[in-house]
Amino acid sequence: MKRDFLYEGKAKRVYTSAQPGLLVVEYKDDATAFDGAKRGTIESKGIVNNRISALLFQYLEAEGVATHFERLIDERHMLVKQVEIVPVEVVVRNTVAGSLSQRLGLEEGTPLPGAVVEFYYKNDELHDPMVNEDHIRVLNLATPEELEVMKETALRVNRLLVPLFARAGIDIIDFKLEFGRYQGRIILADEISPDTCRLWDSNTGVKLDKDRFRRDLGGEPEAYQEVLRRLEGVI
Ligand code: TMP
Repeated sequence: MKRDFLYEGKAKRVYTSAQPGLLVVEYKDDATAFDGAKRGTIESKGIVNNRISALLFQYLEAEGVATHFERLIDERHMLVKQVEIVPVEVVVRNTVAGSLSQRLGLEEGTPLPGAVVEFYYKNDELHDPMVNEDHIRVLNLATPEELEVMKETALRVNRLLVPLFARAGIDIIDFKLEFGRYQGRIILADEISPDTCRLWDSNTGVKLDKDRFRRDLGGEPEAYQEVLRRLEGVI
């Protein structure tokens, strides 16, 4: 299945496949935080994130959201459409946490009266700065039309994921999406996993996501497994 190595990111490797236009994504156990300043591994993370991402992409596809997901290949690999990644990360927030808490001095856990959307320029040297729609336009990162599709799709994904995770006893606090250009359209790409979402147990508030690694809380493998186990029960 895997042909030529194309690219290695912090959590995944990408290869060409036997089929033109389709790529193989390999999910690694490597974890980084704070722009790669903190590094480690989370046992079996790649296996769990591959499955969680596949479940969520399939769920979203069934609800009419176009994604790059084609199919699972094996434990650590999925087949995806080759896209041109738009260098804008879209964050959706339902509850105050992380950088929003720090930037605006709001207490973590404070519910937001409506979803908040933020854009970040995907650029490691600049440390992924937050950008607004004008910055994105002048830097030519995406057209205003593309950005509108990305924003509306991100909000739609939020409207689908909030009740899905609620059925699994999980509050989806915030998450980050990446999009790609594919045959003249914008489709959802990258991954959706505990690496890219904040997921809190609805009853206890226990963190079931990468903040366990970022904040040295321990128990990362068990938390990621728990998210997969609960999603399998509701999808
Ligand atoms: P933040 O509060 O640190 O800005 O993170 C918001 C959400 O985006 C959170 O769910 C984690 C996710 N995220 C990523 O997926 N990649 C990143 O590089 C960062 C900074 C955040």
